[in-house]
Amino acid sequence: MIEQFRSLYGEDRQPRFYRAPGRVNLIGEHTDYNLGFVLPIALDMACYVACAPSSDGRIHVHSLDRREGFDFDVDLRNAIPRKNWTDYVIGVAQGLARRGVEIRPMNLALHSDVPEGSGLSSSAALEVSSAFAFLDGRDFDKLEIAKLCQQAEIEFVGMPCGIMDQYISVFGRKNRAIEIDCRSLQHRAVPLPENVAILAVNSMVKHELASSAYADRVNECRAAVDQIRRVHPQVASLRDAKVEYLDEAGLTGTLKKRARHIITENERVEQFLVASERGDLAEMGKLFVGSHRSMQFDYEITCEEIDFLVDAALSIDGVFGARMTGGGFGGCTVNLVEPEKAPAFERAIKQAYQARWGVDPPVFRCLPSEGAGQLPGRE
Ligand code: GLA
Repeated sequence: MIEQFRSLYGEDRQPRFYRAPGRVNLIGEHTDYNLGFVLPIALDMACYVACAPSSDGRIHVHSLDRREGFDFDVDLRNAIPRKNWTDYVIGVAQGLARRGVEIRPMNLALHSDVPEGSGLSSSAALEVSSAFAFLDGRDFDKLEIAKLCQQAEIEFVGMPCGIMDQYISVFGRKNRAIEIDCRSLQHRAVPLPENVAILAVNSMVKHELASSAYADRVNECRAAVDQIRRVHPQVASLRDAKVEYLDEAGLTGTLKKRARHIITENERVEQFLVASERGDLAEMGKLFVGSHRSMQFDYEITCEEIDFLVDAALSIDGVFGARMTGGGFGGCTVNLVEPEKAPAFERAIKQAYQARWGVDPPVFRCLPSEGAGQLPGRE
């Protein structure tokens, strides 16, 4: 990256580097924007930004992966989205500017090894690493970074996401999963049992409709809350609801199913943490499968390829549980596997998927890693 940065910008100075990781969510899917609980880990796959001051007064942003770059005026207050990948970067810079951070003329070069559209939060990694690069060492509250990156994605990119991905990219910890309470925005770092491997399998499916279907779910949850509140006025979000409330409020059909997923998923996060503390891998696996079935039948955010990956995994020796991770409609499954059986699992799942769908699904070992920060430079 240093060489590419130098030849791109005709520099011989050393750029500074910032890194922000992708994530895999262990359990608690679509609970974040319902102010509930999630349990992600930050990955060792990350987005890296090399940066240095520019000499022409402008901001230059170049993607080394896409081999394309764009430049921007430093006054981003009225910047409008270009409907491409730079929106994640510029939306964040605008968010910082609106919070009083001076945006300085800079050259940036980006490279990411978080696979795009895989449900591993390549966009949050891009946003958070960009925020760190624009701040370039200036002090700024970490929670505010996560919040403004989420806000950039909602307002500048137009995806009404929750806080999980940006939060874990900032606050990830090596060897720990992070339980986030999405109402208080506090978290606790929890160790996981050592005798389990966490493996993500990428279905390679990216659905075009994923972001509008995501927005539909956000709206359905709001509609469910409105209806529940007529009977239980204290319910401010589905976080506060109980399964009994659904019938009491006369919820039926789609809204009932959506709300039931969120309520039971929040319970599963808590149960998973208890099982994890006991080292009860069988129970953790069962909760994974419960979460998947709830996404499959109640929240209806899976797809055939993903359901296939889960069902196939469950028939492989040494697998405790499997579920889809992330926003849905494709992307990755996450699997809890006996460590000694991980290589055989990888071979078997690849073979099964290849035979059924004609695609070789990449498999990643997920190692809980540190959240965003500056990388030491190299002369
Ligand atoms: C996407 C969103 C997150 C979260 C997950 C589903 O990754 O960005 O905020 O809602 O989907 O759990």
